[in-house]
Amino acid sequence: EQTINASIVLFGATGDLAHRKLFPAMFQLYQKGQLKENFAVVGVSRKEFSHEEFQTIVADAVLTHSHVSDKEALTQFASHFYYLKMDVTDAISYHELGNLLDQLDRDYRTDGNRMYYMAMAPQFFGTIPGFLKSEGITDTSGWHRIVIEKPFGKNLETATELNEKIQKSFDEDDIYRIDHYLGKEMVQNIQVIRFGNAIFESIWNNKYIDSVQITSSETLGVEDRAAYYEKSGALLDMVQNHMLQMVMLVAMEPPGKLDTKHIRDEKVKVLRSLRFYNELEIGENVIRGQYREGTINGEPVQGYLEEENVDPQSKTETFVAAKLYIDNFRWDGVPFYIKTGKRLNTKSTEIVIQFKQGPMSLYRANNVNHPPNLLRIHIQPDEGLSLSLNAKPHGDNMNLLPIDMSFCNNCHNEVNSPEAYEKLIGDCLFGNSTYFTRWDEVALSWEFIDSISRAWSSGELPPPASYPSGSMGPIEADDLLLKDGFTWWDPA
Ligand code: BG6
Repeated sequence: EQTINASIVLFGATGDLAHRKLFPAMFQLYQKGQLKENFAVVGVSRKEFSHEEFQTIVADAVLTHSHVSDKEALTQFASHFYYLKMDVTDAISYHELGNLLDQLDRDYRTDGNRMYYMAMAPQFFGTIPGFLKSEGITDTSGWHRIVIEKPFGKNLETATELNEKIQKSFDEDDIYRIDHYLGKEMVQNIQVIRFGNAIFESIWNNKYIDSVQITSSETLGVEDRAAYYEKSGALLDMVQNHMLQMVMLVAMEPPGKLDTKHIRDEKVKVLRSLRFYNELEIGENVIRGQYREGTINGEPVQGYLEEENVDPQSKTETFVAAKLYIDNFRWDGVPFYIKTGKRLNTKSTEIVIQFKQGPMSLYRANNVNHPPNLLRIHIQPDEGLSLSLNAKPHGDNMNLLPIDMSFCNNCHNEVNSPEAYEKLIGDCLFGNSTYFTRWDEVALSWEFIDSISRAWSSGELPPPASYPSGSMGPIEADDLLLKDGFTWWDPA
């Protein structure tokens, strides 16, 4: 394994993301030897902590949120963490940061390499990079990379402003915009399944594929994030980023080479071919929903409007289902159905490719077609692949028996596959931005999402359709497919 020399500045070090994901991810990188002796982390936030207190917080977070077998290693790991209380809007506080980093560069021989991770409130995403540059923090001879969490803006306009600010201090190549779905093992596997298997790639088009479905369902509700979620809703929270990213990976053309530029070039072309709808078409093709009370895993749960800090009149959508078209040679006429929502009956992300029926259905019984062939890519919680085929039952030559060929990536492993954040932090440290989003991708996805937000806020379209918690969404989402002769292949 290669090892990296660097310091990491973590803005938002006392936040939820740092505790649940980032510290455990860094610890995994440490255990794998990618981070070894020559690294240091500076945690930054507005609260008051000593280095030692912060080290205890880090160790506790890792213990709570991941599996630790080697406590000694954890203590060693935590000893690389330092803490700085900062007012990130005040230039002076960056001098202290600079001094600490210079010291750590020497103590840990980091070669002046610095990664800045923005895991804090988005209103500071634009402010911090400016100070990092103006106060000389980015002046060392090593590399300087900045990681930006979501949300990257609220629409095209604010995203563009934010981007322009960041680009005053960092080159596009050094800006790592996170979409954690791109770090998921099976999301990265999509291109391998497609381009590593001739049998799939040759039929991966509108001649053989009837429709594509991408579903990401959650059982959790809004939790304690109403302040954020009320303004974002499922469209901005999930569709603008994660859902569109998966659409791109399923639909993109094979890249000429497996490098960052080629892959991202092909992804972006998918967005350029995405069909934009007018307001009426948005009403027909993009369904929004909002959960009401219901039952999840046998437990009663309250509706969205009863949740803490949610406006009792709120029109915020907690569910989106949509039919998308990619108007290019490969996908002409093939609907891409996407669906995502909170308080649905299961936590699962799955991509289903539904193949067309053969030219002549010899086994068509009682006027009913046999089940179509489906390729399911299981992103989570199971990671794997299954292909449904038809065979015949033993001793019976008249009927068809659907069978399933499946492969499970994480079922037989003792250890879990690497977490998304582990991969993405590792990628950034090694300078690989393939699984981060490029500015043109982000801009195009906002343009598309803005067209939907605008239509929804015009007041001409019906409000979100209500669905009971624990269901798979409103009836309207089922109708969306039924009128095309399809049904959702929800995870079993
Ligand atoms: C985040 C959203 O980006 O993704 C959350 O802000 C959502 O609302 C989460 O719960 C889902 O991620 P995962 O990895 O649990 O599917």
